[in-house]
Amino acid sequence: MPAILYLSRGDVEGLGISVADVIRDLEAAFAAKGRGEVEMPPKPGIHPRPDSFIHAMPAYVRSSDIAGLKWISGFPDNPSRGLPYISGLMILNDPATGVPLAVMDASWITAVRTGAATAVAAKYLARREATHLAFIGCGVQARSNLDALAVVQPRLTDILAYDIRPEAAEAFAEYGQMRHRLRVAVCRTPEEAVRGAELIVTATPILKHPTPVLLAEWLRPGVFLCTLDFDSSVTPAAFEAADLLCSDDVAQLDFYRLDGYFRGVPDRIGDLGDIVAGRMKGRERPDARVISINLGLALEDVVTAHRIYQAARTAGAGRDLEL
Ligand SMILES: NC(=O)c1ccc[n+]([C@@H]2O[C@H](COP(=O)([O-])OP(=O)(O)OC[C@H]3O[C@@H](n4cnc5c(N)ncnc54)[C@H](O)[C@@H]3O)[C@@H](O)[C@H]2O)c1
Repeated sequence: MPAILYLSRGDVEGLGISVADVIRDLEAAFAAKGRGEVEMPPKPGIHPRPDSFIHAMPAYVRSSDIAGLKWISGFPDNPSRGLPYISGLMILNDPATGVPLAVMDASWITAVRTGAATAVAAKYLARREATHLAFIGCGVQARSNLDALAVVQPRLTDILAYDIRPEAAEAFAEYGQMRHRLRVAVCRTPEEAVRGAELIVTATPILKHPTPVLLAEWLRPGVFLCTLDFDSSVTPAAFEAADLLCSDDVAQLDFYRLDGYFRGVPDRIGDLGDIVAGRMKGRERPDARVISINLGLALEDVVTAHRIYQAARTAGAGRDLEL
């Protein structure tokens, strides 16, 4: 049996893979999905504590012959224990034999590929000239989404940051100023952040019984809103107000509806894969209000892990383990 390559979080981060490369990989993977070239069953999950999850996320991307699985958890009480909300492992398999090729930490992958997926959605659904970007929830995802949106939205000048913990918004403000040289306003209410924005990302914890706050009348004409937290932040009326409603995977969204999420969210949802593959139109009018519900897909993880695996083999990073 060939050895398995093990990559720690430090090994993965040390490879210096660029967000722009991950965005390109994901755009190609979404196009493959739109052409029907991806096998990706909706994620099964277990829920050991209230509002926690551990999901199994397998995918096979036929056009690039990449197979693997992510086993990823989200535990909302972890930050109070000094642990990250999200943690997990990624396994890559040889698609010809099924033999595991690599096991790696999934934190970097999850953060970076989620931002990259938002950037792919923005490329097709946002106005390029948008300058003001709001975040509701200023944790790990806010940072990686800002990094990725900065690649595809070249006119960004201002960030509007709201977090239920003002210290988290302050720390994020420092990140935005230092890393991206953008003006960052820490907002006292979600309304203040959203009303001023042309681009919005919601990244608060996912709750089974949410009390969303984001109202339809706060959304400007021409806005692009990407939800990473299901329907935890956005009210059903705000979803209803969208001129175009999309998701990174409609099949998975319907699967979550069976589990009680997305109550009151309209059924008229386009699939990002179809848009990227040119089978459906993206933004058509500058004043359209567009919402993308990004659930996070296994295809994003496997193509990113494949890039990491190749870079690590080239660099001699990580260590070999016997199976
Ligand atoms: N769709 C995807 O692909 C994907 C991928 C990874 C994570 N996520 C989701 O993104 C969300 C954020 O993940 P993260 O890793 O950034 O978590 P995090 O813990 O690093 O950040 C979450 C932030 O939200 C803040 N917050 C909590 N409740 C809030 C509220 N009511 N209003 C405003 N802010 C609030 C917290 O103070 C914290 O700063 C989670 O729901 C996670 O499950 C989605």
